[in-house]
This record gives sequence, structure tokens and C-alpha cells, in this order.
Amino acid sequence: MVSYSFERVKRGLRKFGVLRPLNRHEYRTVWNSVSADLREAMVSVQGSSDENQFAVSAKATVETLKECVGIYPTDTVLEIGAGVGRVGDLLAPLCKEWIATDVSDHMLAHLSRRLAKQQNIRTVLTNGFDLSQIESGSVDLVYCTVVFMHLDEWERFNYVREGLRVLKPGGRMLVDNFSLLTDAGWDFFVKNMESYPPAKRPPNISKSSTPQELFLYFEKAGFRHIAQRTGAVLVTTFGTKPR
Ligand SMILES: C[S@@+](CC[C@H](N)C(=O)[O-])C[C@H]1O[C@@H](n2cnc3c(N)ncnc32)[C@H](O)[C@@H]1O
Repeated sequence: MVSYSFERVKRGLRKFGVLRPLNRHEYRTVWNSVSADLREAMVSVQGSSDENQFAVSAKATVETLKECVGIYPTDTVLEIGAGVGRVGDLLAPLCKEWIATDVSDHMLAHLSRRLAKQQNIRTVLTNGFDLSQIESGSVDLVYCTVVFMHLDEWERFNYVREGLRVLKPGGRMLVDNFSLLTDAGWDFFVKNMESYPPAKRPPNISKSSTPQELFLYFEKAGFRHIAQRTGAVLVTTFGTKPR
């Protein structure tokens, strides 16, 4: 998990002429401020700009997707908060179409350049709150990885609800967050508490979920066959849209 220092966000904001402190829900301004160039964007996504490290972690994410919800050559797949295409780089060749959505136009510009060789990619700039540009019932698989920690709970739930809307009947959705109930997740929670006095917390500071929170979102949104997997840090939740 990446730590987003208050100073780094502030430096980025100054570059864009934003001088006031930002709120958490100003997702586009916050994320554009930490992704001016590709190197900085990669550091913001996973703490390193090393392409090999990206490939290793992307492989692990794709394995999780395969094991939990499957990936098929006929699938239209949509990622919420796709960043610079860490996962899409490996996933796009495995499906029919990969739709990269993100609130940050900087991230999507880096993604388009990084993945220029892939022919089946579409990028969609979203408003940070919903998937309104995506047609209902048009997608086979929606996933969102390493993003929920940066969102308010309402946006987390709304993305699960929007996931259900854009999925075809029988379509699958998967999300993750770091779990407060794991040892590493608890340590990260305490580290953030001790690292930042309240007024110095970066707007995109990582906040945990519990498995119960994510399960409830899926249940209330109307998913079926909801299941969860907890790793050393992350809790992953997935389910199916009723036919
Ligand atoms: C830590 S990065 C993860 C990127 C990608 N999912 C990955 O695993 O490589 C978080 C991404 O979420 C995007 N993001 C942040 N808030 C968002 C929101 N409200 N809606 C959509 N995307 C958002 C950021 O711009 C950034 O690209």
C-alpha cells in the first residue's frame, strides 16, 4: 500500500495553481495533482515506477480475477480507477474489450501511451462518483482494485450499485480494499493515525474496509452468489448479477 504524503499532494497542487486544502471528494484534482508525469503516476499507483514490479503485481491481480470471477475471451471488462493500466496491460489480451475508467485525465493519458500497442482498449473519463457514461447491461466483468481505500464509503457503495447496473445478467463484479481485520491492515491503520495529525491528512489517505462492509454493499446492491477472500492485507469481494 502506498502512503500519500501531505507534502507531495500539496506540491502537486501548487503546480496546478490550487492553493487551498482539498477535500477527499475532489477526486479529479487530487489525483491529477499526483500524476503530472508517468513516473509520478506510477509511484502514486503502487509506490514505485519500476515496470518489472508493476508486471509482477499485475500478474497477481489477474490471477485473483481468474480464480474468483474468471476471465473469458468473449468478455467486455471494465476497470473502475484503472490508473496507468497496470492490470489492463496483462488483461486486455485475455478479453474482447477492456474499458479503462478513471477520474483523472492525467492517469488516462499515461495509460493510453503505455498501452498504445493494445488494440481493444477504450478509455472513459468518469466524474468520480458513478459510471453514467456506460450503457446499462453492456459489460461482462467489472472490477475495482486498490481504489476503494481512497474513496468515501458512499462512493464505494455507489460504484458497487453502478457495477450491477452496467453488467449484463449473469455478469460478475470484484472489488478489494485493505482489511482492518488483518494484522497488516491494522498496522497500516495505526501507522496512518500516528503519521498524520488530523489537519495534515492527505485527502486521498488510505482508509480500510471490513469484510462485512463490502459484503453488505454487494447484498444491498442486489448481487447474488457473493463470496469473499481475505489475503495478508486485502479483502476481496465478488458476486454475480442475477439472470
Ligand atoms: C492506487 S491507484 C490504482 C490504479 C489501478 N487500479 C491499479 O491497480 O493499478 C488509484 C486510481 O483510482 C483513481 N481514482 C481515485 N478516485 C477515483 C474515483 N472517485 N473514481 C474513479 N477513479 C478514481 C485514481 O485516479 C487512480 O488512478
